[in-house]
Amino acid sequence: MLSENAKKEISKEISKFPEKKAALLPALHIAQKEQGWISKETMEEIASIIEIKPIEVMEVVSFYTMFNMNPVGRYHLQVCTNLSCSLLNSRHMLNHLQDKLGIKTGETTKDNKFTLSTVECLGSCGTAPMMQVNDEFHENLTKQKIDTILESLK
Ligand code: FES
Repeated sequence: MLSENAKKEISKEISKFPEKKAALLPALHIAQKEQGWISKETMEEIASIIEIKPIEVMEVVSFYTMFNMNPVGRYHLQVCTNLSCSLLNSRHMLNHLQDKLGIKTGETTKDNKFTLSTVECLGSCGTAPMMQVNDEFHENLTKQKIDTILESLK
């Protein structure tokens, strides 16, 4: 269930647009900021507030990798494995992260601190290989850089 505060924020977003539906993306951001992910129940709640069908919310949530359809850890590490990043060894970076964290892609560490995912191009090809950690981009990755990033998150 969304908090009253989140519902108020969503109403504020809705008031900015001529159609309620236009507030769908901001509403999803508000929900994810509060809950860390977008559950089926949250999608239904947002659909009801915005007066659209739940499937329309699901279509948007499942299209954008920035929305989590499952719970994630405190730090969500998303490694780009698209062309430019792949050519510059993103797979090695991913393997290194798996080794360091002791999890496979798609998993969360037991302490709920790190979730590791792969994503499609995040538009930072010029500084490949890269990953996103929560809202922050980390570019020109090397194994040493990854170690430093993980150390800073402990
Ligand atoms: S291919 Fe990785 S950011 Fe574009």
